[in-house]
Amino acid sequence: MTSDPMDIFTPEQLEAVLDGLTGPGWVVLRSVGSPELRAALRAELNALRESGGLKAAGVGQGGAHRRNEDIRGDSIAWLDATASPAQAQYLAGIDQLIAELNRQLFLGLKDAEAHFAWYTPEAFYKPHLDRFRSDDARTVSTVFYLNPDWPEDGGGELEIYDPEDPERLIARVPPEDGSLAVFLSDRIWHAVAPTRRDRLSIAGWLRRPRLH
Ligand code: OGA
Ligand code: MN
Repeated sequence: MTSDPMDIFTPEQLEAVLDGLTGPGWVVLRSVGSPELRAALRAELNALRESGGLKAAGVGQGGAHRRNEDIRGDSIAWLDATASPAQAQYLAGIDQLIAELNRQLFLGLKDAEAHFAWYTPEAFYKPHLDRFRSDDARTVSTVFYLNPDWPEDGGGELEIYDPEDPERLIARVPPEDGSLAVFLSDRIWHAVAPTRRDRLSIAGWLRRPRLH
């Protein structure tokens, strides 16, 4: 494996993702990317919010897509590698992860999509899987957090449920700056607990060619 100063993952972090996905089906990495990259992404998300560039998120896909604040309360904007060096670097890092997962686990991933997300106080996302009924492309989910010094009572944790028993909560992940959750999109039920402060993140999905 070659390493480059623009890489966002260390070889150890890539190894931890392989272990997490082949073992429990999920893993949380800390200190992904540089503090400068995270600050740049945070500034871009703030600027999008101030310029009205975020849209209320929906649920479902295609004709079934609709806004539903009883299920999720975040606002989003899709990342675009041509929009800024920070977005390009983050998406290149995700491509590095795709290459590694294809090389080691033969997952057959072809590309990624990722959006910024902003949860204002009290927003949440109810338990769900990241797999649409009408589209099986989303295979591995990634959520990257951009919130320095998240307080213990800040709420907004990513809640992960036991794949063998989706009623059972097995982990609560604070959305601390630099943490990255990676999990199997069709197997790991997860939720966002109601947040008590503004919560910034990038949610992404590594995709296979669609089979249906
Ligand atoms: C999602 C999601 C979790 C998080 O956007 O699908 O589950 O911690 N996000 O933001
Ligand atoms: Mn999700």
